[in-house]
Amino acid sequence: MAGEGGAQEGIGRNFKALFERCLGEAGLSVRALRHQILRETGQDFPETTVESWLRPHSTTGQFVYPGDAKAQVLAKWLCARSGATVTEEELLAALPTDKAARAARRNTAPGDSGGDQDAGPLRLARGQVFESIIDATIYLGMDAVLGDVDNRLTEMLNARRPIPTYYAYLTHHGYRNWVRLTEDHRYTYYRASVDLCLAHANAIAAAIVQAVGGEQIDFVGLGPGTGAKDRALLHSLVAEAAPSGGSLFYYPYDINPAMIVHAIQTVLSGDLSSRVAVKGIIAPFDSLGSFSPVYKDRAGPNVLALLGNTLGNMSEDCAFLETLYASMWFGDLLVLEVRCHVDEGADQAPGIGEEAKKRFNFGPLEDLGAVYDDHRDLITIRRERGRSVIPNTVTTVTQCQRVTCEGRTWTDVRLAYVHEYAEADLERVVCDIGFTVLEKISGGVRGLEGERVVLLYLLRKG
Ligand SMILES: C[S@@+](CC[C@H](N)C(=O)[O-])C[C@H]1O[C@@H](n2cnc3c(N)ncnc32)[C@H](O)[C@@H]1O
Repeated sequence: MAGEGGAQEGIGRNFKALFERCLGEAGLSVRALRHQILRETGQDFPETTVESWLRPHSTTGQFVYPGDAKAQVLAKWLCARSGATVTEEELLAALPTDKAARAARRNTAPGDSGGDQDAGPLRLARGQVFESIIDATIYLGMDAVLGDVDNRLTEMLNARRPIPTYYAYLTHHGYRNWVRLTEDHRYTYYRASVDLCLAHANAIAAAIVQAVGGEQIDFVGLGPGTGAKDRALLHSLVAEAAPSGGSLFYYPYDINPAMIVHAIQTVLSGDLSSRVAVKGIIAPFDSLGSFSPVYKDRAGPNVLALLGNTLGNMSEDCAFLETLYASMWFGDLLVLEVRCHVDEGADQAPGIGEEAKKRFNFGPLEDLGAVYDDHRDLITIRRERGRSVIPNTVTTVTQCQRVTCEGRTWTDVRLAYVHEYAEADLERVVCDIGFTVLEKISGGVRGLEGERVVLLYLLRKG
């Protein structure tokens, strides 16, 4: 359908041309427009929305126009910028003319659904982002994951079972806790892992394109969090894949819809919105097998990214690597970030003084009504071996000696497990599963408690 629009290029583009000229004369990017107009008028003009007024709709090939109220705010503000020679009246006058031209065209082109928000329902193409609407796939069993969290937590506490780490990411509270943690400068591991990813994104992208070619890459962000690392990798992939005309799809896959929204906003901000198609997958990791057909929709290669030591949060880490392997095609890639301990002893937990991390791990209990400040001194961190089937893994176990809330008390509540791997043993397991290590990049994390390592692997199935 995009080609169909191409034949009609001249129709209905006066507003676009004037708007574009005005932006140029005022020296504004779409992003700067958004920030300044928001600050000065209180009206939000999301970047994807503004971009949809500047170029033809990717499905219908037609132009999309602002509604009258938005257009008036926009024209009044923009045409008053210094440098702008287009007047408010000229810009506004172009709109009805363009809309009429487009309506006339629609009447002579049956089956063309159009792309205007004023003109009836929009049909999103796969991966298309339009205004603030995205394409997504949702697991119907999410109700069992997201619903009734309080009762399920209470049952776990009564049965003295550890709280699975993913509980810290559930609910809106869990999402906000994670965002707050990523903004905390004391969370040195996170800082180090983001820095590593940013510093090596170009090299990783080049290695990906070399391994699979630049055509039709589908990038699956498994647990993207705020999307900062996915953005860095996709940004570099766009640059690497562009010369061969490749098209990129981004599939953020997460248990928490708020995390997916955040990641998409991060990834699409600025220049990537016109280069990357997006489809969210809202589902838990243990349903990955059921959802792999979603990202295997195109015949091109899939690049899965499991970053932020998310593997190390899993009690069944090795089994999950096997599940990942099974969900990939031969030749598909996995970008895997893990933490490794350096010295054999590794007796002390990294970041043991990290108040921020303790608070994050306590999150699920706050959902139940427990108050963190009343429990801070009861939280202990110890190091254990043998919690992962991957040999020589050292696991940091965060535990609260006593939890009291709303008249109930539980003792020795295990809040979180975080695995740190022995590099050589992890690699042996990964290769035994069937992956080939294409690249390995490491970065150090130096803290009060000694040195640890963040490792980024580029693995290929087969
Ligand atoms: C440790 S954070 C890592 C975030 C990001 N990859 C990074 O490196 O900054 C874990 C991410 O995985 C998601 N997650 C955790 N457990 C999950 C599960 N069982 N199924 C799906 N997503 C999960 C969380 O919501 C979060 O986005």
